[in-house]
Amino acid sequence: MQNKPRESLVLFSALLVLPLMLVAFIGVFALMVNVSERSVAAQEARATAIEEDRQAGVRAAALTAIANRPVSFSREILPILQTRCAYCHGPNSIAGAPPNGLQLDSYENVMLGSFFLPVVIPGEPENSTLMLLLRSGGMPAESDPLPPEQIELIAKWIEQGALDN
Ligand code: HEC
Repeated sequence: MQNKPRESLVLFSALLVLPLMLVAFIGVFALMVNVSERSVAAQEARATAIEEDRQAGVRAAALTAIANRPVSFSREILPILQTRCAYCHGPNSIAGAPPNGLQLDSYENVMLGSFFLPVVIPGEPENSTLMLLLRSGGMPAESDPLPPEQIELIAKWIEQGALDN
């Protein structure tokens, strides 16, 4: 009989402590999940950054390689123009006729330019309409821009004198 108050005290504190422990447990669990989710996100971000670095490295290496050698029109530039431009700027243009008379299907036609202007100025990529449109993404129309490597290759070819090589 003497123990009764103590028992109820124990019972009471147990009832109080158990939910508190439960809450604390849930809290710690939630924290762990949150932390592990965050570290997964951080790992993914790191992987993306590494991949972007790698691609930038590849691109930089490609540009350095271009900088140090002569670019060939027939082997390197014409194939790009044939694939990405000539279905509009060519004799069988999907537009019915080459836009503004500009044909990009041979060295002679590239240098002839459009009805309005030459689009390639030898030695001056920064003043060549063709380069300005490639860099702004204005050309190729209705298509993805050329990859930066190809754009730099064409710039290099113009800078080296836009030779028929
Ligand atoms: C889907 C069709 C299409 C494709 C593909 C295309 N062009 Fe064009 N291009 C046009 C049209 C249409 C115009 C005329 C735009 C205007 O006058 O506003 C034009 C105009 C141009 C001009 C300006 C000519 C001038 O003096 O007015 C240049 C330079 C040019 N394109 C370069 C390119 C190059 C380089 C590529 C490939 C990388 C390319 N284009 C691909 C449709 C195309």
